[in-house]
Amino acid sequence: MTGLKTCVADLEDFFDKNVERYLDGCYGGKQRYPSNAVRKSIMLHYVDKYFKSRKRKVRILDAGCGAGNLMVELLDRGYKVEGMDVSASMLEHCRRALSARGYSPELVQKGDVFALSKLVRSQYDLVLCAGLLGYLPRHDLVFAQIRKVLKPDGLVITDIINRLFDLFTFNKHTVDFLDRLFQEQGLPTAVRRSVTRTLGRRLEIGKEYELKKSFKGEEIESSEVDVDYNSLNYARRFAQAGFRLRDVWYYHRHPIPTIFERSFPKLFQHSGPIPRGLPRNEWYDALLCNTSVVVLERDKR
Ligand SMILES: C[S@@+](CC[C@H](N)C(=O)[O-])C[C@H]1O[C@@H](n2cnc3c(N)ncnc32)[C@H](O)[C@@H]1O
Repeated sequence: MTGLKTCVADLEDFFDKNVERYLDGCYGGKQRYPSNAVRKSIMLHYVDKYFKSRKRKVRILDAGCGAGNLMVELLDRGYKVEGMDVSASMLEHCRRALSARGYSPELVQKGDVFALSKLVRSQYDLVLCAGLLGYLPRHDLVFAQIRKVLKPDGLVITDIINRLFDLFTFNKHTVDFLDRLFQEQGLPTAVRRSVTRTLGRRLEIGKEYELKKSFKGEEIESSEVDVDYNSLNYARRFAQAGFRLRDVWYYHRHPIPTIFERSFPKLFQHSGPIPRGLPRNEWYDALLCNTSVVVLERDKR
């Protein structure tokens, strides 16, 4: 568990030091693709979809609430929301934003999501994790904590990476993806090494592609790295964590592989105003989008 503590302390430090940059970059319109704003609109869409009809009765917890961008919007819409975050600086921004809109700054508290069930005593209808899981190892532990604070029919809304997109990037990530696929099938190391090296050369990945030891390498325990989410294994991965997948919305679509970014920069520029409507959720988004928002329901076990 020492590794986990260090990781949380590092994240706390990172967000404490980078709060302004994060807010400017992510919500201040300085990103090429306004992924935080898009994520927020998709999450709001789902909160309304599932809870609008009983909004004054539902209890929502915003885990890793940051500066409160989502929280304040939900409060404005009439939902009852509390928040928690590990970073004091983020919480300072959040409390200011709450006060400015006439809400109590005490709606948020400082804490670590890995100890969530000790921090909050209530049971929630919905736990939101926006931009949180991507930073954290050991999702099994995070989901176990969330299960403890969720009502039996409670939901989780979170964003999650889609590694199937790596097949479409035609770069190092593609070879990493395939290597994981080869490992999962139990292919002999010699075959894996030969195939990944050849692919690395064909894809012209700088230096010759070196097969990594594996995700079960010596330095990192596989259970501490949760990179292996892809649109085809979501249901299974979430089932392992005790949740059923109810909805998925893919976003941050790359219409052509990123290696063509220099040739067709406009296709990768999304610095204009945040799209009014939500992006359309097409079948091909499961391949072309690197992220998604998912709605999970607690299974009954
Ligand atoms: C990318 S920000 C997202 C903030 C907010 N949810 C949003 O969508 O704007 C991630 C947040 O997670 C918080 N965080 C990171 N590790 C955490 C942990 N172990 N427990 C609670 N919060 C954590 C960070 O301090 C930061 O505020």
